[in-house]
Amino acid sequence: MWDEARHAEMSWRRLEELGGVPDPKPPITTVVLTPMEGLTDPLERLLVLQRVVEGRATERHRYRVIYLARELGDPQTARLFEYIVADERAHIGYSQWIQHLVGDDPERVARLEEVHKAAEQRFEALISRRADATAGMSAGGKAS
Ligand SMILES: [Fe+2]
Ligand SMILES: [Fe+2]
Repeated sequence: MWDEARHAEMSWRRLEELGGVPDPKPPITTVVLTPMEGLTDPLERLLVLQRVVEGRATERHRYRVIYLARELGDPQTARLFEYIVADERAHIGYSQWIQHLVGDDPERVARLEEVHKAAEQRFEALISRRADATAGMSAGGKAS
């Protein structure tokens, strides 16, 4: 949580430096809630948070680092995203504990794989409708 609080504070400060006062957002955004839709099991929700939400968001932030630094000439904001990516890589790695909890239960493993796949699809559908869907994704040669 300390990492996430720092991400929010760093981003807020940078937005102010760039001249915009950020609009307050709900504490849980649609990019988190949409992939979680319909999930009540805590393990399933944590899997989706760590592997889908943090996983996919970090993948996109990595391209934003390249796009901001190279295409927009904004190395300061690029560095901010680098710090966030460094933290998020650890958060994604923490999801390794999930397999220890599930063990060899084939039904549970199959259910989690199904949940993961469905959440990825909801995440992609949401992202594809965003105005910044391609921000930073084409600069590195990867289309979204
Ligand atoms: Fe974060
Ligand atoms: Fe995180």
